[in-house]
Amino acid sequence: SEKWVLMVTARTPTNIAVIKYWGKRDEKLILPINDSISVTLDPNHLCTTTTVSVSPSFVEDRMWLNGKEISLQGGRFQSCLREIRARANDVEDEKKGIKIKKEDWQKLHLQIASYNNFPTAAGLASSAAGFACLVFSLAKLMNLKEDNSQLSAIARQGSGSACRSLYGGFVKWIMGKEENGSDSLAVQLADEKHWDDLVIIIAVVSARQKETSSTSGMRDTVETSALIKHRAKEVVPKRIIEMETAIKNRDFASFTRLACTDSNQFHAVCLDTYPPIFYMNDTSHRIISCVEKWNRSEETPQVAYTFDAGPNAVMIARDRKTAALLLQRLLYNFPPKSDTDLDSYVIGDKSILQ
Ligand code: PMV
Repeated sequence: SEKWVLMVTARTPTNIAVIKYWGKRDEKLILPINDSISVTLDPNHLCTTTTVSVSPSFVEDRMWLNGKEISLQGGRFQSCLREIRARANDVEDEKKGIKIKKEDWQKLHLQIASYNNFPTAAGLASSAAGFACLVFSLAKLMNLKEDNSQLSAIARQGSGSACRSLYGGFVKWIMGKEENGSDSLAVQLADEKHWDDLVIIIAVVSARQKETSSTSGMRDTVETSALIKHRAKEVVPKRIIEMETAIKNRDFASFTRLACTDSNQFHAVCLDTYPPIFYMNDTSHRIISCVEKWNRSEETPQVAYTFDAGPNAVMIARDRKTAALLLQRLLYNFPPKSDTDLDSYVIGDKSILQ
């Protein structure tokens, strides 16, 4: 019968880099110029849910994002689909009487429906969760034998930061040495239970979509910034080692110093790009000042901050009590919808807990 449909649904959270990836050495394969480290959010917040399905009655590959059809013709989707199909295996569902041979996957077509549980336009990294979820669900559907690290090297070709969302907890994207990118993949540094005191609070400073895409921003930076060379060669390799130690020892003071200085250097590199790239705005800067002032008034840092390619603040509080105080301070200093353009807060309760 040609009537059957086989489907798989998966859910993947986004991740936030605490040592940033910025700059590619190969644009097509998406190979970075430095290692990076991230924390994967709780899957109950900021995640993508994707259902992939296959049926002999489908006549072409199609995809819907938040209910709206999108094109799969882009190079990044095509790379992911090609890499996964090349590794597909036999699939048998005895109950449904379905038998798919390895080679059938080259001819069978897919339908993919993906939803973000947060506004895609909010300027919060959605491609990371999206491509990780797409690759993971397709790998399950096609019975791939590869482990999550090997799958991360496929997700990387959809969006660089996506490779880090194949694992929970703390994750390192190793830049790799190979020209074909086979060793540019993600490994888990610590699982989600390792440091579960941490709470992540995201302040949505502006829900507008970022003006400079990460792809064109990175290209301009690599072509024009002198600072990025120093960063990639001298600064990040040392920070990666220090950050790994800080995570291992749950050393919040070192974690905060490394995450904050790395975010600030990333934005300095953006300013050093010509023409300059401004991702943070006045509100972002005021949030940094507020957190820095607080940290300095205490014996030891209470909150780390980091900003990606947009003005939204990601803050990591050392524990739940501090997170409650942080929220109070934010609401007091940045009342939503009044003198600032702070729209809302997204609170990642128990952030990195599953
Ligand atoms: O993977 P992309 O192209 O969305 O780039 C992500 C870049 C940053 O978010 C700014 C840093 C990072 O490591 O995630």
